[in-house]
Amino acid sequence: MIKTLTIDIGGSGIKALVLDEQGEPLGERDRIKTPQPATPDAVMAVITQLASQQGDFDRVSVGFPGVVRQGIIYTAVNLHPDWHAYDLAQQLTARLGKPVRVANDADLQGMGAISGKGVEMVITLGTGFGTALFTDGHLVANLEFGHQRFRKGQTYEEQLGRAALKSVGPTVWNNRLLKAIAALSHGFNYDRLYLGGGEVKQIEVELPENVTIVSNVLGLIGGIKLWA
Ligand code: BGC
Repeated sequence: MIKTLTIDIGGSGIKALVLDEQGEPLGERDRIKTPQPATPDAVMAVITQLASQQGDFDRVSVGFPGVVRQGIIYTAVNLHPDWHAYDLAQQLTARLGKPVRVANDADLQGMGAISGKGVEMVITLGTGFGTALFTDGHLVANLEFGHQRFRKGQTYEEQLGRAALKSVGPTVWNNRLLKAIAALSHGFNYDRLYLGGGEVKQIEVELPENVTIVSNVLGLIGGIKLWA
């Protein structure tokens, strides 16, 4: 059996889980707080620790909260500027001695959540505001729509990221979320929107019929899809 260690790097926590070939968890999810400052060295040390705690695995999938191409990091707004141009796949392979594939965290979450039919959009509500778009199961792009202008001169992430939730409180944040869903629905005309990420537990409003809340664990389960 091929075992895949999946790592989800977030702004507040780094999570790990080993999956079998079907994407079924083989053990318990592990989480260590994201070190501050979240430099590559500090985060790599946490990943190495999580990997040793998870035991046996043959390959590694990583969800990263920024722009990533061919394993190389381009942006990491909620981690640290030193991530720019960091070859995460190569560095992690050197440390763990296993093949590594890296994708944007929202894209990975999406791969675990979507049905593969029609236009499907994914939003992650955590430290940042992650976005992913799929048509018939194919990823359209590393979208980064969270940094687009939303309302009142602010981006989606500035209005709906964890910092905003803390400062305006859940009621205002929930109303903003409904406005964001309406804007994204008009802009992308998706068949279904999935909401993931650690802060979905704060949702207390009724959502449109074509919007589904998904488990944050899918951010890890999606890791199996990088090897399909
Ligand atoms: C990053 C995205 C990421 C999102 C959620 C944003 O700040 O730019 O790449 O998907 O946060 O972590």
